[in-house]
Amino acid sequence: MNVRDEFIKYFVKNGHKQIPSAPIVPENDPTVLFNTAGMQPLVPYLMGEKHPYGNRLCDYQKCVRLTDLDEIGDKTHHTFFEMLGNWSLGDYFKKESINYSFEFLTKVLNIPLERLAVTVFAGDDKIPLDEATASYWKSHGISEDRIAYLGRDNNFWIAGDSGPCGGDTEIFYFRSNDEIPKKFDPNDERWVEIWNNVFMEFYQDKDGNITELKQKNVDTGMGLERIVAVLEGTDDNYKTSIWSDVIHKLEDISNLSYEGNEKAMRIIADHIRTSVFISADPASIKPSNTDQGYILRRLIRRYIRQARKLGIDINSDFDLELALIIMDKYEKYYSELKDNRDAVLEVLSLEKKKFARTLEKGLREFEKLVGNDTKIIGKDVAFKLYDTYGFPIELTLEEAKDRGMIVDVDGFYDKFREHQEKSRTASKGKFKGGLSGDGEIETKYHTATHLLNAALKKVIGPSVHQLGSNITPERLRFDFPCDHKMTDDEKKKVEDLVNEWIKEDLSVQKLEMSKDEAIKSGAECTFIDRYPDIVTVYKIGDVSMELCGGPHVSHTGELGEFKIKKEESSSAGVRRIKAILK
Ligand code: SER
Repeated sequence: MNVRDEFIKYFVKNGHKQIPSAPIVPENDPTVLFNTAGMQPLVPYLMGEKHPYGNRLCDYQKCVRLTDLDEIGDKTHHTFFEMLGNWSLGDYFKKESINYSFEFLTKVLNIPLERLAVTVFAGDDKIPLDEATASYWKSHGISEDRIAYLGRDNNFWIAGDSGPCGGDTEIFYFRSNDEIPKKFDPNDERWVEIWNNVFMEFYQDKDGNITELKQKNVDTGMGLERIVAVLEGTDDNYKTSIWSDVIHKLEDISNLSYEGNEKAMRIIADHIRTSVFISADPASIKPSNTDQGYILRRLIRRYIRQARKLGIDINSDFDLELALIIMDKYEKYYSELKDNRDAVLEVLSLEKKKFARTLEKGLREFEKLVGNDTKIIGKDVAFKLYDTYGFPIELTLEEAKDRGMIVDVDGFYDKFREHQEKSRTASKGKFKGGLSGDGEIETKYHTATHLLNAALKKVIGPSVHQLGSNITPERLRFDFPCDHKMTDDEKKKVEDLVNEWIKEDLSVQKLEMSKDEAIKSGAECTFIDRYPDIVTVYKIGDVSMELCGGPHVSHTGELGEFKIKKEESSSAGVRRIKAILK
């Protein structure tokens, strides 16, 4: 079954007009780099402007999201994806929207009722609990047990921090061969979200004030990759019919099988598809060092490095062969892929040639600068390789690893940030939801990460330590060893502890000492070998002491409120927390 075609057919039959996908590079919005949701090009119409196609619309929209760029390589993340959506612009509202979604899922896609569950907005101090939505679901046979009522963090949708918004209801599917539990637990990872229906009846301004919109709208979004995986019975999006031809070609080119090489193959497949779509977009984006061009450059260089890792000859046409498969497959839905075919191939191939030269030159410089007589690659050398020879830090790390050397990564990032501060100019603010961050908020997340580590040790046990950490302006991410899914009680205890320490406004001290001294004083450090002899230790009140390059705030009181947004499995025996500061 072709879900995309069935979706459009169903909504057109029900009085909707199909609108073409808007370009991925927004035409009239300089504040964002890419279109991140189906509703984004429709904002003026949700606000009340008349849409030339009428007030019932449907489409499939190209979207690019970069917030989770470093998660690409797992089973479910993509930088480019398509969102199926239907809209009512002041026409029908909750009841009909739920009728349509339910009928499409159960009658067209034939999903059995017992595999479905929903979340409903529980209300807050400004907006009441959405009883109407719950009662419409029940009228279709969804039992009270299969409805979870969640607050603003989960069941309220807004793009960014101001704009049209409203409570939403999310539809979940039970993806497992286990017996289906009677009661729906939205934290149970066997339930996956497949569709989001937002009831956009409010407008939120920058200060958080909420007013009613002129009209009540419906905005729905269903990720095509996810629903296809669900219907095809796999939890690996890259094993679906959407990707099989690309993955097979990659297996062919590399002479390796997907099993065992999943991560690199997924990154290559994902990044080539996104690069094809960005360079085919009417905005004619070319690789560069700013804005969309910078993202395109990063994506291309990243898949080339992954290809090299798989032993693919990067001077061959491996990328063009893959790009052609992608363009052939999608051109009937996106005519720009047909019109700009040659331009796309030229962009990819020129950038590859440039990067291949950088790589060669970089590797030569690497040998010269690093030689074989050192165990540690210091921050200055790592930064020079990056800054002067365009040699990405990831590559320095890989090369160092092959030679049994370690790199002062934190030192590199310190220099990198210093440099970034200096050169941050016009593009400031444009990276909302993108890659680059605001130094201040990232600093807060660094400190919050130390507090989280300390709180987890108290709640889960002393075996907790940092296995991985990643910070974006939107959130922190922390991986740690733990043999079970955290209970709600454990999560609450961790949050409470961190918030208590924030309230106490503990001072954050930066200490320098020898590595031995640091170890003796009990400072926390997972990868002690990676550090130089003199290390920096950050001490927060009496609750935490960790080796770290920083930067950190000077007092915990600066952090605001700490909240865990997600706790999930990262790999066997490793849990992952995503948390935010409000
Ligand atoms: N705007 C909502 C989302 O992106 C529904 O389309 O999830």
